[in-house]
Amino acid sequence: MRVDRFLSNLPRFNRQQVRLLLVAKRIRIDGQVVSDPHAEVREFSRVELDDEVLQAGKPPRYFMLHKPMGCVSATRDPEHRTVLDLLDEPDKHELHIAGRLDYNTTGLLILTNDGSWSRRLTQPQTKLPKRYYVETEQDIGPEYAETFARGLYFAFEDLTTLPAELQILGPRCARLSIVEGRYHQVKRMFGHFDNKVLRLHRERMGPLVLDENLAPGEYRSLTDEEIRLI
Ligand code: URA
Repeated sequence: MRVDRFLSNLPRFNRQQVRLLLVAKRIRIDGQVVSDPHAEVREFSRVELDDEVLQAGKPPRYFMLHKPMGCVSATRDPEHRTVLDLLDEPDKHELHIAGRLDYNTTGLLILTNDGSWSRRLTQPQTKLPKRYYVETEQDIGPEYAETFARGLYFAFEDLTTLPAELQILGPRCARLSIVEGRYHQVKRMFGHFDNKVLRLHRERMGPLVLDENLAPGEYRSLTDEEIRLI
């Protein structure tokens, strides 16, 4: 949010006072004096007025988890084990999942408390491909690739899926890259051909690749370089 809006939302300042505070260079964001009313205040920013802390700011956190089968991509669930149960971190309920996976889908799952970062990773507009390894019940025909590239109509959402790329690896296994994350999207795409998905594993999301050193259920923090890539 803009710093002028952030300050005016505090009960103690009106708009005129906010303007004056900025002009007088009394406001600092992350240690830097700001006078531009458009300067951005994020939930992680430390905001100070003279020596008084108006918002302490929290460190952003980013994790990559190798999601195993048999757990839900939710932060709470009354019945099942959740992906958060696999994390041994303080305040883990402040994290959210960037791109859920189904109960039996395995692979790369990203958890973070940084909403604008995770939106860049998951929004179809940024066109970051999510790559899945897929095994199916029936043979995968050559016509699949063209149909997926054209897009499939999903009546429930009344939309046509964005072009997806299929690489056939064997009679019943393939790699599929999609830029969206519609509900059960991969299973529904193969379902169009009445072909059931038996195994689904997310290998990468844009430039983020599942670390091969992570066994199912293990996780690690993202490196600074990985965070910068998004
Ligand atoms: N598509 C699916 O159908 N399931 C997933 O878990 C991910 C993508």
